[in-house]
Parts: sequence; structure tokens; C-alpha cells
Amino acid sequence: MDKIQVKHKIDKLRKEINQHNYLYYVLDKPEISDATYDKLFRQLVDLEKQFPDLITEDSPTQRVGGEPLKEFKTIIHKNPLLSLDKVTSENDLRGFDERVKKVLNKNVVHYFVEVKFDGLAMALSYKKGILEKGSTRGDGVRGEDVTQNIRTIKTIPLRLNDPIDIEVRGEVIFPYKEFVKLNEERIENEEPKFANPRNAAAGSVRQLDPKTTSKRTLEFFAYYGTPQKGIETQYDLIKYLHKIGYKVYLPLMLLKGIDEVIKYINELEYKREKLKYEIDGIVVKVNDLADQKKLGATTHHPRWAIAYKYQPMQAETIVEDIVVQVGRTGAITPVAHLKPVHLAGVVVKRATLHNEDEIKRLGLRIKDYVKVQRAGEVIPEVVSVVEGKRSGQEKEFHMPKKCPICGSEIYRPENEAIARCTNFACPAQVKERIRHFCTRGAMDIEHMGPAVIDQLVENKLIKDAGDIYSLNKEDLTKLERMADKSAQNILNAIEKSKERDFDRLIFGLGIRNVGKHIASLLAEQFADIEKLSQAKEEEISDIYGIGETVAKSVVHFFKQKGNQVIIEKLAKAGVNMKAKAQKGPKPLAGKHIVLTGTIEYSRDEAESLIRKLGGHPSSSVSKQIDFVVAGSEPGSKYEKAKKLGVKIINEKEFLEYIQSQNMEAML
Ligand code: IVH
Repeated sequence: MDKIQVKHKIDKLRKEINQHNYLYYVLDKPEISDATYDKLFRQLVDLEKQFPDLITEDSPTQRVGGEPLKEFKTIIHKNPLLSLDKVTSENDLRGFDERVKKVLNKNVVHYFVEVKFDGLAMALSYKKGILEKGSTRGDGVRGEDVTQNIRTIKTIPLRLNDPIDIEVRGEVIFPYKEFVKLNEERIENEEPKFANPRNAAAGSVRQLDPKTTSKRTLEFFAYYGTPQKGIETQYDLIKYLHKIGYKVYLPLMLLKGIDEVIKYINELEYKREKLKYEIDGIVVKVNDLADQKKLGATTHHPRWAIAYKYQPMQAETIVEDIVVQVGRTGAITPVAHLKPVHLAGVVVKRATLHNEDEIKRLGLRIKDYVKVQRAGEVIPEVVSVVEGKRSGQEKEFHMPKKCPICGSEIYRPENEAIARCTNFACPAQVKERIRHFCTRGAMDIEHMGPAVIDQLVENKLIKDAGDIYSLNKEDLTKLERMADKSAQNILNAIEKSKERDFDRLIFGLGIRNVGKHIASLLAEQFADIEKLSQAKEEEISDIYGIGETVAKSVVHFFKQKGNQVIIEKLAKAGVNMKAKAQKGPKPLAGKHIVLTGTIEYSRDEAESLIRKLGGHPSSSVSKQIDFVVAGSEPGSKYEKAKKLGVKIINEKEFLEYIQSQNMEAML
């Protein structure tokens, strides 16, 4: 192929890939399999690798790549991003319609209606169809240049299906499901939770390192674009934005007169729970663009649009009591027990109050009337106190000084929001720790649910996970509603759990900050519990992917006498405490290796070979990586390795390397 042919081929591949991205991400209607897509993508990467001068910014291979910034540049918006005027009643909406009709001198106005997305407003500018800049709305006049970050959002096209100059405006949002997942991860890593999807969207876009943004599943919805030739209505404008590559609110909703609008608003109110993302209302826009111009704008908002805000999904009820719960790590969480109330389709009886500071912030007292709120699948929260309804009988709540379960001291370290029961033997902690040990992700002991565990602890039959293994049928049949057969089932499940892999045991021990992933890193590095329990802090934090906090908690855990006793019991019972036997030499000990492209050996096999030989297969390229093994048609990881100067070898060299190291080890 000569250069012109190559360029032609590259253009064709990019077009194809962009089209499939559009089908997949925007229309949700993929036409090819992931494998076929990967193949196209790799072909493009390969060609771009051979002809780096043909790489352009708008290539689908160029989404992530930017280095972390020190700070964001300020951008002055040429046309300010206005706000919206807001109403909350049907009457005010009719008032808006009256004003519009009067200015336009019309009896009926056609309105284009869509949801009001609750995310982060953005302006994206394109030159000849190529994305140039993305900036946040900021205060409307001044925003921040977040181009690098928003390039990683798959629903923001880097190149439009039409080579036009345009500024597109819309909202970056964080879908509910992803939001719940992100917060779960953050709790596990002891990072502060995001209060709501909007904060999560804003926090993710305003990251100085685009790699962090790229890990968050953000979406972009367009709701405005500089009008193009031949487009005369809002409806056609949005339809056009959809055609050139954007996700928009569907179905496109064009309604005649304010009555139809009100009907639609009422219908959607009950459906909004089912949307995949949070909305805080409906936006009503005059459809005709010439009419929009006639109506004009104030310095704050356009006169041709209005936002109708829904009441948040809240309900009013009484806090009957505030009860503290004690978690596995002793964390004391105050929970409001509510007079049951219907809220967005479910009956809510409890709401979390998070911690002591939150109760102070709310000024909450027992027997107060409160507003509770629920968003998507998130746990209900108390959002405010209805002070006007106080009778004077309300009681202030004080965080107990002693654990309500065991009476031990509660300690709240300075600068921390969480207070903890300091007694390791506290029955609440004991139960929660045992429950954790038995869960599916850990030792997976079937039939050992919370009810059984509670009884076992209360009857003093067990006091830690180690005791589970000395239970016998007699012990179990003492419990309520425990027939012979059920007891036998539990004993069988306990027996079976002795064979679980080492990483599950580590996770099951409930070491603070050690989630499933960290547990598997530890199991890869340390051959058995003996080695792990004697590891020094530096040895642990040296493991790629593990930091100092985790290293400290691991060392601390094994220093505790109580934990040592549990481990002795487990060992005596014959619970597996060894990593899978790794026979033979370890030529890859301590090496971090990334695989990219098609590996003939098959990727799974290659990864398990690396593990067997003592190495760590990793998924992302960084300076800490020892080398990258490039199969055929390697992906963007290859480029990254090249950029960072990380050693790259091909599959054949890799196998030779292992063999030669093997020889050395065997000699
Ligand atoms: S139209 C000139 N449409 O709401 C027209 N805005 O409260 C102005 N917003 O900052 C925007 N969903 O980011 C429009 N469907 C929608 C919207 C929407 C959310 C945001 C917008 C603006 C804010 C104003």
C-alpha cells in the first residue's frame, strides 16, 4: 500500500468505527459483535502505529492520552450559557404561556418539551466537525477548559457526521446504577461518598487526571446547538444533533398548546423513577426558532423557555426514635426509625443519618417531623426538619458514650466523622464479622445466614469465625427451628468451605481496607498465612496496587492477639491457608506485566502463566510496569508504553525470556 492508500484505509476504518460507536453508545443498537469491533479497532491502531504522522486528534483511538494537568484553564464563553427561569406550579406555567402568546401575537404556541437533566452543563465547540474544546458552564460567563476529560466520554463525538462549525450544549450526567456502584467502591476504599449523581458527574469531569474521568461511566445529552442553515425549529435542531452523533432525550416531544404540556408533565412525574438518570424537572421551549428570537432573553434566562421543577421525591413523617447500629469495624451509625411512609412506590421505615455531625447539621430531635428523600436505589435520607411542627415535646439526641450493645467506650478520632465501639469482642461486631466471613464473596458458607449467626453468638456457641469449625450437630440442633437435616446442611457447607482459595480467606478475615481485589493481590504475593502475617509494612506497600493505608491495617490486624487466636483455630480445623501450589522456579517474581493485542497463547492462559511464574498481570500501562507483551494488532496500551518508555516485547520474545530465566533458575 502506498501512503495515499493507507490514508484512505485509515479514513475508512475511522468512519466505520465511529459509526459502530454511534450505534452502540447513542442508539443502543449495536450491529456487530464486540470481537468484530475490537478487530476493526486494532487494525486502525496497527496502521496508526506504522504511520504515526497520520494520527489525528479526532481518531477514535485518541480518547485517553492526555497527561494530568496542574489546574484548569479558564474559558470565557463567547455567548454566555444562560440559566432557565423556573416555575413549580401549573398556574405559573400558564402564566408563561400567556406572556409568550402575547409577545408572539398567537393563539396557540407549539412547545418542544424535554427533561431537565440534573448534571453538569457543558459547551462543546467543533470546527469543521472536529471537537476542539469542551468547557464547563461555570458561572455562565467563565467556565473551565475540561477538553481532555470530556474526550473520554463515549457519547461525546470527537468527529461529527457533518463537517460543520457548531457549538453544542448539553449536560454530562452520571447514570444511577453507576452512581451506586461508584459509591460502594468509595466506601470500600474509605473515600468520601458523593452525595448525589450530580456531584458525582461534576466531580468526575473536574479531575485533573483524565484517566480518572475515563474510569467513570459518564454520559452526555445534548439539548442545544448553534442553529444551522435550513433548521427552523427546536424539534429539527435536536433531531439534527441526534443525527450528527449525540444522545438526546427521546422520544422527541412536540406538543400543541400549554394543556398538552401540562398533561405530559403529569404523566412523566410517575415515570421519572424509572429513568436511568436523575432529572429535576421538565424544560418547555418555544419550538419555532424565529419566535425564540422574537422573545429574546434577559441577562439571566431566555424568555422562550421555562423549567418546571418537580417536587423532589420527598415525604413527611415523624422520627419515632434514633437508634445506633454497630458495624463490623465497630462503626457507629445513627439510624432514624420512622413512622412508615409511602415514598416513590415503597414504604420507608428507616433512614440513615450517617453520623453525629449530620444530626447536628440537621438540628434533628427525636419525635421531630422530617422530610425524607429517596433517589433511585439510594438508601433514604432525612433531608430536613419541619421546625414549624414542633410541639416542644421533642427530645435531643446524644450520641451514646458507650456502645449500646456491649457497653464499651466509643471513640471518635479527631478529624474523623465516624465514631467506633472500641471493644473487639462486642457482640454486634462479632456477629457482623462472622456474617462477613460467611458471605458469598468470602468463605461462602451456605445456610449460615444472619439469623443463625445471631443465635449462635447469643447462645455463646461461637464468638469468632474460628469457632465455626468446631460446631457439631448437637450445638446446631439446640437452635430454634433447626431440624436435623438443616443442621447437617450447615455442617456440610462448613466442611466444604475449608477448601476455599486463599484470597477468599484473606477477604473473609475482614481486615480494614482489604476488599476482594486487595485480598487477591495479597494472596498472589504471599504464599501462606504465615508469610502474610509476618510481612512488614514496606513489603506490603511495595506490591503494585497497594498503598500505605492498606499495608498499615494488614500489619495491625495480624498484631492483635484476638486475630492470632482465630487464625490458630482456622489452621487447626484444616482451613486452607495457602496460595495455590506454585511449583517450579519463579522467573517472573515481582514483575508487573501488561498484555495487549491478540496473544496466541490465549490471554487467560498467558495471564495464569504469568501468575504461576510469580508475576503480576496488570491491566493498565504506567511507569511501574516492567514490560508490555504485544501480541498481534496491539491496542492503545502499546502506544502508551511507547510514550512512557516502558519495555515492549513480542510474544515470542516473552516465551524465550521465560525459558532463559527458567534455565538460570534451574542451574
Ligand atoms: S436549555 C438557553 N434544556 O439547566 C437555554 N437546559 O437551570 C438554556 N438543563 O444550566 C438551557 N436540562 O444546564 C436546557 N433540557 C434542558 C436542560 C437544561 C438541564 C440545565 C442547563 C442550565 C440549567 C438551568
